[in-house]
Amino acid sequence: MRAAAIAQPNIALIKYWGKRDVDRNLPAVGSISITLRELFTEMCVQLDAGLPHDMLVVNGTPDTALLPRLSACLDRVLGAERSRARIDSRCNFPIAAGLASSASAFAALTVAAAAAGNKSSDPAVLASLAGRASGSAARSLYSGYVELENTADDIAVCTLRDPGEWPLTVVVAITASGPKSVGSTRAMELSRQTSPFYSSWIEQQPHDLGVAREAIMQRDFAKLAAVSEHNCLKMHSIMWASRPPIVYWNAATMDCLQTVRDLQAQGVGVFFTMDAGPQVKAVCLPEHAQQVRAALGATAGVVELMESGLGDAARLVNRA
Ligand code: DP6
Repeated sequence: MRAAAIAQPNIALIKYWGKRDVDRNLPAVGSISITLRELFTEMCVQLDAGLPHDMLVVNGTPDTALLPRLSACLDRVLGAERSRARIDSRCNFPIAAGLASSASAFAALTVAAAAAGNKSSDPAVLASLAGRASGSAARSLYSGYVELENTADDIAVCTLRDPGEWPLTVVVAITASGPKSVGSTRAMELSRQTSPFYSSWIEQQPHDLGVAREAIMQRDFAKLAAVSEHNCLKMHSIMWASRPPIVYWNAATMDCLQTVRDLQAQGVGVFFTMDAGPQVKAVCLPEHAQQVRAALGATAGVVELMESGLGDAARLVNRA
């Protein structure tokens, strides 16, 4: 009746942006991500029929804002007739600032809840359930380089390469630590409804996925860099052209992009990607990580740096 799980966030290189079915939260496009090692969310779920309602404690503080989405996720994993739950969550990075905190949170919650309720531990089943809560969460059920494919009626997720087979490093430049202005769920719908670029985004995604998949299989860094930056900038262009416009970047985001461009000009193996927030994730060859870290650390407006290798799938952990 009690289980704890840990999950790492993942960073999409080929992005999920847009939904084909809002009620079931099915993505409009496939995506490819890398699961991180050093950042984590741990979720402990205790089922207790005696509780009057679900309870959530985040990093030691009771939280009611996030609870409805978590409760809905528990309903999907355990059935609506389930016992009430106490959820304890711990996270070692800023929540809701475009660092994929919902991905690791819902992946960990799904794994912990399934174990606490003696439900299936099949990653494919859990990925589908986690994806209903947050599309990107489905990818954190898998390790390393992960592809999420749209199938006729659902999603299918798999690891393309294990982290040890091509160990890259991610340096995250935090440029602001507050919550994001518009949540990604709402921003995606605004994009679908109002952006003139949305339909070409959907059309071109299979091509970008193919190039990235090939680059990962060939361990071709330059190829992965080019398609990832292109895909990221396309996603942000859709947002910029939405009405109202959605701009997640700040001045430091732009400065970080320039820093990455300067490093590339010096022959450093690095590329950038950004999600629904102002942070810049610089993906680099491990031998260049120190140089990338130093350059981003010296960039105006960067308030904090985080570094991570590529990590494992969501999993149960023992908690007394
Ligand atoms: C920009 O998974 O947070 O990070 O399914 O609505 O919860 P919901 O969206 P979410 O969106 C992630 C968007 C992204 C790109 C990505 O991770 O693929």
